[in-house]
Amino acid sequence: MDTIKIGLIGCGNISAAYLRTAQTFRILEAWACADLDPARAKARAEEFGVPRACSVEELLADPEIQIVVNLTTPQAHAEVSLAAIAAGKHVYSEKPLAVTLADGRRILEAAADKGARVGCAPGTFLGGGLQTCRKLIDEGAIGRPVACTAFMMSHGHEGWHPDPAYYYRPGAGPMFDMGPYYLTALTTLLGPVTQVAGMAGIQIPERTITSQPKYGQKILVETPDHVTGTMAFANGAIGTIITTFATWHSQLPFIEIYGTEATLSVPNPNSLAGPVRICLAGEREWRDVPLTHGHTDSRNMWGIGVADMAHAIAADRPHRAGGAQAYHVLELMHGFLESWQRGCYQRIESTFERPAPLPMHLPEDALDG
Ligand SMILES: NC(=O)c1ccc[n+]([C@@H]2O[C@H](COP(=O)([O-])OP(=O)(O)OC[C@H]3O[C@@H](n4cnc5c(N)ncnc54)[C@H](O)[C@@H]3O)[C@@H](O)[C@H]2O)c1
Repeated sequence: MDTIKIGLIGCGNISAAYLRTAQTFRILEAWACADLDPARAKARAEEFGVPRACSVEELLADPEIQIVVNLTTPQAHAEVSLAAIAAGKHVYSEKPLAVTLADGRRILEAAADKGARVGCAPGTFLGGGLQTCRKLIDEGAIGRPVACTAFMMSHGHEGWHPDPAYYYRPGAGPMFDMGPYYLTALTTLLGPVTQVAGMAGIQIPERTITSQPKYGQKILVETPDHVTGTMAFANGAIGTIITTFATWHSQLPFIEIYGTEATLSVPNPNSLAGPVRICLAGEREWRDVPLTHGHTDSRNMWGIGVADMAHAIAADRPHRAGGAQAYHVLELMHGFLESWQRGCYQRIESTFERPAPLPMHLPEDALDG
């Protein structure tokens, strides 16, 4: 198999997961690492045997690299993705696509001008858990979807992330940081949204870091740490979402989809795995649904969206974790905050084609039938 060389920009916390992904999918060849902090790029390259550790400029000028994987913090996503596109590369970015809608549009337009592909995390909907849910819904196992709920309940990241301040700045917070997992899952399962409403607030304005090495430092919260939203899907379903960094405990599910014939319990969308459960109309017992698809190893396949983009380039087909859906998700997240700030419903202008489902019975290394 011919490999596709990737260059990572941003060699912080999540970069190891992408480098493990490149070791898992044979089509990917991790070729270069770059970071504003050269020591981080060097350390990751050494750890994973990546041939080059270099500056961002050198990485972008390297003709070997086809896909730039943008693993910088959200505030740098647009700048780095635009630079990669300008350098003639395809780009796959960590979420969110950008902080502002204007920057999101700029990325999609620049890519269209250059004939470059834009991909964006999360790719978790390519995992066996969410692909099984997709198959069940598409086959009518729950009847007509009428509603869905999604809950991301947490107390934030200052207890484990080594440098958590960015999570409390605009472009992050619970909605922009974790919302993409939930909204990408929901829109993959149910399609695009036409209107949203939201309510939000900064509920715990000062955080104390309890992870190392910044233990004891304070973070002033600059963006809502509790965001709730309602959504009208184009297919008629009505959705409810809560994302929060302001709660300690909860017993709410991750995602449920309610249909005329059954309720589907969807696994954690921040994972590739199951379990998937269904409870049929008129029954009381939940049944475990055996997964119909593989690719459940979240640790070693986290960057599965990049692997799918590489296969898509090789097969000249659309890639699945695409820019149009990522922009739609970005518009939803802004929509919740706009609605809250303006006290009115927010129309959603963008739309997208649902990514093609994965075929069943694929070998773990493959993403095409
Ligand atoms: N940490 C996680 O568990 C996790 C999980 C899923 C997704 N993500 C996403 O991945 C992205 C990165 O998160 P992280 O936790 O790895 O952050 P991090 O702070 O650990 O690492 C980010 C790295 O990007 C570098 N960087 C920032 N701006 C840059 C620029 N302009 N050019 C080159 N390098 C630059 C920084 O020096 C740093 O090394 C974020 O978008 C985050 O939402 C993180």
